[in-house]
Amino acid sequence: MSARRTAPRHWRNTKLASHPFPEHPKFSQPEEIILELNAIQASILRHRPQPYVGTHFALRIDNPEHGRLLIKRLTPLIASAANCRDQQSWISIGISYAGLRLLGLPETSLASFPEAFRTGMAGRAAQLMDTGPNAPSHWDPAFQGNQMHVCLNVFSSGGEAWEKTRALAHEQFVDLHGITLLGAHQFGSHPDNLNPFGYKDGISEPAIEGNDVEPLPGQGAPIKAGEFILGYPGESGEPLKMPQPDILGRNGTFLAFRKYRSRLGAFNDYLRSQASTPAGRELIAAKLVGRWRSGAPLTLAPEADDPELGADYRRNNDFTYADDPNGQRVPLGCHMRRMNPRDSKVSVMTDVNVHRLIRCGTSYGKPYDESVTASQDQDDERGVYFMLISAKAHETLEFLQREWVNNGNFQNLGDERDPLIGLHEENDMFTVPAKPVRKRLVGIQTFNVLKGGEYLFMPSLPALQWIADSGR
Ligand code: HEM
Repeated sequence: MSARRTAPRHWRNTKLASHPFPEHPKFSQPEEIILELNAIQASILRHRPQPYVGTHFALRIDNPEHGRLLIKRLTPLIASAANCRDQQSWISIGISYAGLRLLGLPETSLASFPEAFRTGMAGRAAQLMDTGPNAPSHWDPAFQGNQMHVCLNVFSSGGEAWEKTRALAHEQFVDLHGITLLGAHQFGSHPDNLNPFGYKDGISEPAIEGNDVEPLPGQGAPIKAGEFILGYPGESGEPLKMPQPDILGRNGTFLAFRKYRSRLGAFNDYLRSQASTPAGRELIAAKLVGRWRSGAPLTLAPEADDPELGADYRRNNDFTYADDPNGQRVPLGCHMRRMNPRDSKVSVMTDVNVHRLIRCGTSYGKPYDESVTASQDQDDERGVYFMLISAKAHETLEFLQREWVNNGNFQNLGDERDPLIGLHEENDMFTVPAKPVRKRLVGIQTFNVLKGGEYLFMPSLPALQWIADSGR
């Protein structure tokens, strides 16, 4: 085995070398697991570039023959985790259940997909607690009626490579009258790589088993590859159930794609209503997330921001909650601690490792601006195309939405919900533990409103070829 090395920042921690497809991966010897990088889509294992720009093309298949032709054309263009190491632009693809059905997959294959995926994200609104302003009836037209059958994601660092790759993706469907372009959703990083609320994002990522690179400090033990890619052992020691036949499921994964519209003005107004000084507002902003906007975690910088720490990826995620069991530094109910409680004591028992996810959030629209007020939210377009990648993305998202985002019980917080992405009633509360007395912030609102989404399957490259040949 090669010597361990530090991961380049743009790679999620996995084995870097490409490998011919082994016929019988040695499931019984986890330390020998080698990911079949030639078969796995690049976006699963590669971070988007930093800074980044890109397009999500949402497509509807009106004619199955054209659908299969589209997949056939795209197959050689989809980047694998092996071949995109030096590329600055690449294309990935996700297909919904309705799309797979139209493409003519055999009934036995269709039936082998999990029920939530077959139902689609809109149909699972109750399980996802996507109600009220987040209900599918309020979604953007492109996401209405389960009609986004194919989602092509073009990621790039910009420049000429970006133009070329985007044009290449576009060429593959523009002459096919049986394919309708529902939306070409542009995204791109904002100045200083801040998300629409002004925070540095994309810091904490799980380490994935199969790596020969040193995990970053604080990443913890690598999570079994099978939690993220089908066909490898998961945390239970067994591979997760995968779509059949094997060639369809193996090396594929699932993607939960969600469009959030960020109400920055409402968020700014809220901070202004809670503190009269910029420093006071920044502290509240940090308490709501668990990090200062610079990325510095409150565990390591509890009193004041430390931008140097925030920028240092070898230090900015190197912490646990062992010294902060009651949330005096990082409130138990803040976004980051809910989404990954690490070693926090949770009152509803669960194995935190089985709820980890690969995140690929992409910001769109106007950048963060502290002067914006709520009156501008109606006209200003800004937000996040959130991408959650996991071998059971639907299950993970539904668990998180129900138990950790829109529920406070697991931290003994009663009705409190995630202050950043929770669905809120008027005047919801957020508890900031402090000594001698805790603070209760009132008036938390739905600051990020859901505008659409879909569950997508990200097939392996051999599976794409197999899908293109379906119906023959
Ligand atoms: C508009 C939507 C969202 C915004 C603005 C946002 C913002 C943030 C920020 C600022 C962080 C801290 C920096 C970092 O560790 O990367 C973070 C962490 C995280 N977020 Fe979000 N987020 C959003 C949606 C979501 C959703 C929908 C999920 C999952 C369902 C999610 C899951 C996570 C996770 C797992 C972490 C890392 C926690 C850790 O490992 O410590 N986020 N988010």
